[in-house]
Amino acid sequence: MMIYEPQEDSFLLEKQVKKYALGRVLDLGTGSGIQAVAAAGNKLVREVIAVDINPEAVKRFQEIVTKNKFKKIQILVSNLFSNVECKFDIIIFNPPYLPQDAGIEDAALYGGKKGWEISERFFHQAAKFLAPKGKILFLFSSLTNKTKIDEIISHNLFEAQELVKEKLPFFEELYVYSIHKSDILHELERKGVSDVHYLTKGHRGMVYSGTWNTDYNIKSHFSSKKTVKIAIKVENSTSKASNRIKNEARWLKILNEKNIGPKLYFSGTNYVVMEFIEGKRIMDWIKEHSKEEIIPILEKILIQGLTMDQLGVSKQEMHHPHKHIIVSSKDEVNRKDEPIMIDFERCKETLAPTNVTQLVEWLCRSKNELGQKGIKVKVELLRTAAQAYKMDKSNFKIILNPLRN
Ligand SMILES: C[S@@+](CC[C@H](N)C(=O)[O-])C[C@H]1O[C@@H](n2cnc3c(N)ncnc32)[C@H](O)[C@@H]1O
Repeated sequence: MMIYEPQEDSFLLEKQVKKYALGRVLDLGTGSGIQAVAAAGNKLVREVIAVDINPEAVKRFQEIVTKNKFKKIQILVSNLFSNVECKFDIIIFNPPYLPQDAGIEDAALYGGKKGWEISERFFHQAAKFLAPKGKILFLFSSLTNKTKIDEIISHNLFEAQELVKEKLPFFEELYVYSIHKSDILHELERKGVSDVHYLTKGHRGMVYSGTWNTDYNIKSHFSSKKTVKIAIKVENSTSKASNRIKNEARWLKILNEKNIGPKLYFSGTNYVVMEFIEGKRIMDWIKEHSKEEIIPILEKILIQGLTMDQLGVSKQEMHHPHKHIIVSSKDEVNRKDEPIMIDFERCKETLAPTNVTQLVEWLCRSKNELGQKGIKVKVELLRTAAQAYKMDKSNFKIILNPLRN
């Protein structure tokens, strides 16, 4: 592994480090040590921890530090944060940012196949090591894919400000960002949430997993468990459909009373925190189970539909609920599977709710999949029963009958 000798990128970042370093500093991927030395030169800096994955770089920089009696600097071998424990006011990172050249590997230069992979791992872990008001001084190049870097930053609930950019020959551009935690991340952390990780993007928001320390719990959802796995939905700032998150929180509160949906833990203006449902999407679950196991689950789903119809709420999307019903083994001891409906953003009050009739439509359309399990879906009978139910909800039982036989 080569030791990275300071280049244009190092000097560009060094200027910003001199300006902004303070308190306790982490210089990640220290290489020659240029950033650590720049930080230590600032009076506002108390201590600098300089780490690198390359033991040769660490050894050489240690010799320089010893020789020059740089008292504030401590040096360690570490793969990103692997040997680091505390929180920092400033984290400096000039990552290897080039896309990997075929056949050549060098941790000083290449950030992975596309160049941004190491940065993605870094931002995935960074929140835990950054003090609440801390800042990350981060350098990258246009060769790394700026759009991707911006996406990684926002997906990890950070916000970036461009401090400086510099054009290099051959159309390359370097950027230095100052990055801090977003207001949502601050608020979540204050409420005892940690390990927030991006899961997926929906139409109306982004979904994260996380861990919640229930000592911060206001209401009592828990008897003994200290930490619980949570799902966090954050409103997409670019989404035109505003207030969806508030709507989801409102309906979860109401429907939880009827044992429907993941448990709502708490919510804010643009986020909602709920129980993380582990399990399989309904059609995938059906593929792996027997007729005797499937029928009671289908009945429970229809009963949840009935409950929502009785409440005068339409969940929407119930005629294609594959992504919206998870079958989870809630009870790990008795392994009792439960269907849990998720995604209540589009829920609305209505005089003529259609949850059950939509679910019946889904069953009719899943005739083949259910048929493979020996469940005969009598389409005509079910549709007639659904019509009768539409007229009078007390006809609900006749929907269940064709399923049972
Ligand atoms: C582009 S050089 C920057 C060196 C120096 N900080 C500078 O500004 O000149 C990237 C440095 O990151 C180190 N590095 C690469 N992967 C790392 C990892 N997973 N953990 C820690 N350091 C890593 C390399 O050994 C190299 O020293």
